[in-house]
Amino acid sequence: MKNLVSGIQPTGIITLGNYLGAIKNFKLLQDNPDLKLFIFIADLHAITVSFPEKEKLRQQIRSLAAFYLACGLESEKTNLFIQSEVKEHAELGYIMQCLSHVGELNRMTQYKEKKAKGEASPTGLLTYPTLMAGDILLYDAEFVPVGDDQKQHLELTRDLAIRFNNRFGEVFKVPEPIIKPLGARIKSLTNPDKKMSKSDDNPKSYINMLETPAQIRNKIKSAVTDSDGVIRFDPENKPGISNLLIIYATVTNTEIKTVEAQFKDKSYAELKESLAQVITAEIEPIQARYNELINSPYLDEILNKGKENASFLAARKIKKVYDKIGLGRKLK
Ligand code: AMP
Ligand code: TRP
Repeated sequence: MKNLVSGIQPTGIITLGNYLGAIKNFKLLQDNPDLKLFIFIADLHAITVSFPEKEKLRQQIRSLAAFYLACGLESEKTNLFIQSEVKEHAELGYIMQCLSHVGELNRMTQYKEKKAKGEASPTGLLTYPTLMAGDILLYDAEFVPVGDDQKQHLELTRDLAIRFNNRFGEVFKVPEPIIKPLGARIKSLTNPDKKMSKSDDNPKSYINMLETPAQIRNKIKSAVTDSDGVIRFDPENKPGISNLLIIYATVTNTEIKTVEAQFKDKSYAELKESLAQVITAEIEPIQARYNELINSPYLDEILNKGKENASFLAARKIKKVYDKIGLGRKLK
């Protein structure tokens, strides 16, 4: 049995990029009988840029939990839990922070981008990748399915695991990222040179998974393309159209070549209309299940069970780490 770990921040909006780049993949992976999944709501990460309003944060955490389940994660195959409810995440995050160097954290692209955007730069934003390393190493994860933007954080996690093992003895598994060849970087609908991001100021740039079919259709309709009128997969010269083809292929689980052939002689308007239809067809049943789950006590049962299973492994690992370092007293 191999462990797989991944998390998403409960920042309110779940985009089509999150779904296609990460969550849809979790669903496929959980059906592999050789894998045990640990999927969590990264609420400790959600306070690294700024503290959201208290009730809003609580609601966002619950919403993401309901959303994961609505997408088909099942509690028999996946341990679903809330990061802050397993206190060892903060503990190992702190150890990883001590093991890392300011220089390597300063080089993280996501940190540089976020810092450039905001007025304030909390220390937590800089040390965020060390918390993420702790999240992964706590569970001896072999695999970490993420979007392309997390690759650099995974490399740091691997470096920190190796650094710890070399210094204190073998404690951590060195994890491998799973980054899908297609859909790992869904682009913004208004600027296909950028990734689709929930923190984009323009809501037309992303599709929120809880939006209505009409809103989705409008956003796809106004997606930026080009003026040559030919449907061809060419990310460099036709980033807008290529992004729409990638979305179509990942939503429908088809090869990009097949989608390209299907729309070869069609107009951009026809491609957009079909795309809006397939996205809506994928999203509608998810939304229906989401609405059933969001206020259901079943959601709490699953989160309790996930917390219990995760805590068991996490406590065992942190004890080993403290022992290796020599923290506290040696317990018999
Ligand atoms: P975040 O919303 O930043 O917590 O990201 C959650 C997961 O979704 C991570 O695995 C990201 O890499 C992935 N992700 C976020 N945006 C995109 C995107 N535009 N395309 C593909 N994957 C994405
Ligand atoms: N940093 C990730 C993101 O912003 C979320 C995350 C936190 C994560 N801890 C993780 C992803 C551990 C995978 C494994 O998308």
